[in-house]
Amino acid sequence: KWPESITIKEVGPRDGLQNEKAFISTEDKIAWINQLSESGLKHLEITSFVNPKWIPALSDAIAVAAGIKKVPGVTYTALVPNLQGLEQAFKTNIDEVAVFMSASETHNLKNINKTIGATFPVLKDLVRETISAGKVCRGYVSTVFGCPYEGDVDIDAVIRVSETLFDMGIAELSLGDTIGVANPKQVQEVLEVLLKRFPADRLAMHFHDTRGTALANILASLEMGITIFDSSLGGLGGCPYAPGASGNVATDDLLYMLHGMGIHTGADQQKLTSASQFIQEKLGRLLPSKSFQAASSL
Ligand code: HMG
Ligand code: MG
Repeated sequence: KWPESITIKEVGPRDGLQNEKAFISTEDKIAWINQLSESGLKHLEITSFVNPKWIPALSDAIAVAAGIKKVPGVTYTALVPNLQGLEQAFKTNIDEVAVFMSASETHNLKNINKTIGATFPVLKDLVRETISAGKVCRGYVSTVFGCPYEGDVDIDAVIRVSETLFDMGIAELSLGDTIGVANPKQVQEVLEVLLKRFPADRLAMHFHDTRGTALANILASLEMGITIFDSSLGGLGGCPYAPGASGNVATDDLLYMLHGMGIHTGADQQKLTSASQFIQEKLGRLLPSKSFQAASSL
């Protein structure tokens, strides 16, 4: 019934750190990413090339992306909002560009300062330039399961954004529960609609764990045939332009559950516990991940 293996897309260095008040030094970010590279995780989203006034925590994106030790077989991704960001990203040796927008107008406006309609041409250019540079392009759609400003989000809005991004040429779409409001029943209802239009192997799920439902939502997604999940080490994360949003599902918790079920991820839980320990010390506060806290109290 369960898949033999699943793919984890680690977003800790980007989603995990973007909302942190403490500025993690460039050197520490690089050291942390290098630990993640050696952990068996094959996909790391390492930073974002957005306006540093909007996301000060990642203002050292070029230095981080240029400073890491790339491990063969690991894909290094950066989040990019526009051509200006792409120009910066291309000064480094990243493999993949992630573009992003929301299914709800208000979150899109608050997060990237444009209407949905005005975002499409920006992303169209961005996807085209990414692909013509020989890089892979991944897409995110945020607020799929609810918007902090508008509440319920119409599935038709999700379909419209998803179809438009796939038409532009993205390889994979990550469906974001930006503020962690989804429940397993809703996840299955949304996936039932989307899987009629897009193949399961091109959809990823991106659950924030604000209300403790992320692992249940992942299980519900697994039952629907989804095998790609975004997670963040230690359970860090959140979007500063989505009030109330907190961390992503913790990679530590996800691995604990999946490995216990006999589902392979390729990641080494012990190495990741050390990497969680490292970033917890740098941040100077306890990480939200329950399985990490349980492992470190042993
Ligand atoms: P804007 O102000 O509308 O941009 O911002 P603009 O094109 O009008 O330019 C204004 C200024 O921004 C100019 O500088 C540009 O140079 C600068 P000034 O002349 O005023 O000094 N600028 C840039 N600087 C650096 N890099 C760039 C860049 N672009 C413009 N790429 C913009 C529009 C999109 C840039 C801005 O709104 C922004 O940076 N937003 C990013 C917000 C963000 O990063 N949010 C979190 C990530 S999304 C997320 O977390 C959700 C996700 O995890 C999935 C989920 O959970 O649902 C992915
Ligand atoms: Mg997110």
